[in-house]
Amino acid sequence: MRIFSGIQPTGRKHLGNYIGAITQYVDGQDRGEAIYCIVDLHATGVPYQPAGLREAVYDTAATLLAAGLDPERCIFFRQGDVHEHTELCWLLCSVTAWGDLNRMHQFKEKAGAERELVSASLFFYPVLQAADVLAYRAHDVPVGDDQRQHVELMRDIAQRFNARFGELLVVPEHRIPEVGARIMDLQFPERKMSTTGGSEQGTVLVLDEPAAVSRKFRSAVTDSGTEVRRSPEKPGVSNLIEILAAVREATPEQVEREFDGSGYGALKQAVAEAVIARLTPVRERYQQLRGDEALLERILADGAEKARAIAAGTLAEVREAMGVGPVRRRG
Ligand code: TRP
Repeated sequence: MRIFSGIQPTGRKHLGNYIGAITQYVDGQDRGEAIYCIVDLHATGVPYQPAGLREAVYDTAATLLAAGLDPERCIFFRQGDVHEHTELCWLLCSVTAWGDLNRMHQFKEKAGAERELVSASLFFYPVLQAADVLAYRAHDVPVGDDQRQHVELMRDIAQRFNARFGELLVVPEHRIPEVGARIMDLQFPERKMSTTGGSEQGTVLVLDEPAAVSRKFRSAVTDSGTEVRRSPEKPGVSNLIEILAAVREATPEQVEREFDGSGYGALKQAVAEAVIARLTPVRERYQQLRGDEALLERILADGAEKARAIAAGTLAEVREAMGVGPVRRRG
């Protein structure tokens, strides 16, 4: 089983990212052959600062390594280091429907929000994402629900390629995390936790100091009742229960039973303590790793070499099947 996921280079990862995505990447290392890439090329489709992008790649790499990605047990690299992704993106454009790209929700949203330039890279973003996954013939793509349409599209692209040029590509499956997709803002529990759309007080960052984590949980919005139970009328309390369950690797029912009759104060304090216990070692390792850019570069370069060894093979077969370049010599 081969797993592939791409991660946006944004330095500020929050608890929702941690529970929903990052722990899943870490677990993927035990489930199969895991390949993870920081998608710097995808980040160039919207306005950005070149120096800032490079920093954000280091921040993201250090966060993921601190959280438990192990370069001995997975392939971890920077997208822009493996040129096969961009070449495959172009080749896959020939089996991508323009109309499908034009229907992508994320494109429409981002294009609508763009004030200066709606770049063509924003439009082709999903094809590059398809190339990321298909280059490795990955089976499993662990990403959030917001990526559903992009994964559907890469499946269509793989199927159209296989029908047109021969069965070369693996049609991947979407794996949506069970928990964590639903981690909500602590202040506005009807909204997902987010570093762009959320509230500052309601967003717990992976790198927050313990005092900040405690403060954010203490001021979390609950409701007028007292019962520690999940219900649609109690989005704030439900969210705290879900977070505690996820961080302790328990079930929400176990959390409800434990806090039966104890009130919201005890629950908030327990969640804060559990989150701090979980994030403190991550923050400490992050600080060490982030201070050593040469080490981060070495890890990413090693990862890119392993990635290239796989992607180059797929690309050679795709080129040949499509009639691009000379017939390959076999030896
Ligand atoms: N578009 C994804 C996101 O915003 C990031 C991504 C890029 C990705 N390439 C990928 C995810 C390949 C999975 C597989 O989260």
